Amino acid sequence: MSQIAIANAFFRARESANPEGQRILDDPFAVGLVRTQWRLQAMWTFRWLIPGLAHLFDQLQTVHCVRHAAVDALVREGLEKGALQVVLLGAGLDARAERLGQSNPQVRWFEVDRSPYIGHKRGVLAQVDDRVVHVTADLSVPGWEAALLKAGLDPARPTLWVAEGLIHYLPEGTLEKLLHDVRTITVQPRVVISFIRPDMASSAHSTLKRVLSWLGELPKIYFSAARLDEIGAQANWATVKTWTFDQQVDAFAPSARTRAHGVSQDVALFSAEPAQA
Ligand SMILES: C[S@@+](CC[C@H](N)C(=O)[O-])C[C@H]1O[C@@H](n2cnc3c(N)ncnc32)[C@H](O)[C@@H]1O
Repeated sequence: MSQIAIANAFFRARESANPEGQRILDDPFAVGLVRTQWRLQAMWTFRWLIPGLAHLFDQLQTVHCVRHAAVDALVREGLEKGALQVVLLGAGLDARAERLGQSNPQVRWFEVDRSPYIGHKRGVLAQVDDRVVHVTADLSVPGWEAALLKAGLDPARPTLWVAEGLIHYLPEGTLEKLLHDVRTITVQPRVVISFIRPDMASSAHSTLKRVLSWLGELPKIYFSAARLDEIGAQANWATVKTWTFDQQVDAFAPSARTRAHGVSQDVALFSAEPAQA
């Protein structure tokens, strides 16, 4: 299982324990989903001994939770606009289906990940029901679309696609293909992604790079907002909207305004409908 996926759930669990009004998000499922892995456990235990690591963890918690709150808000907006299916690509230990599904019982959720974490989730979350379908598939290998359709994805239902914390791990050209494929697979699609800008990648602190390298999860692919505009136009998406970290805070997570933060991911929404004036 991805160590970053576990770390993200750990950050959401810590954040959820903050008092109401100060926390960026509330994910009551995260604490039950966090699995102890020796490498993460070792880093957490010895974080005060490694220069900069404790501070780095605090910053990573903030940027992850701000991004997660931003994606949550865009998922809610997609549901309000009529999405009846949500596909969470690289879902990891997200509990979005469980958190947002309760108030949207008409929506079906598909979680796709190459990791066989699915059994763990089913075992931990009593709330997992038939509206949440888990699909184990590798998004860098052809065939995942067929696996999703076989699992029950209905091509005739308006569908929201989400890829948070994922795109930078996929081979070059995968985002372009994904943006093309989702338009042929489902109607009225919207796609929400997070992505790393090249300038963000180059300004990352050496401790963060060392940690990611040690975990074997160094990001590989970066996008500028201008490049996403180009990719969106090539695949005939009507609008591409992006949010930097500061814009995510302003729009979706104002309680994070006073928090220290380091490198972050931007968030983008691809929509097939023209933007409203
Ligand atoms: C950094 S985690 C993000 C998890 C979650 N979306 C979040 O934001 O906390 C990336 C997830 O993508 C999954 N992943 C990475 N490469 C993948 C691939 N080629 N196909 C399917 N899943 C993949 C990993 O297993 C992991 O769960």
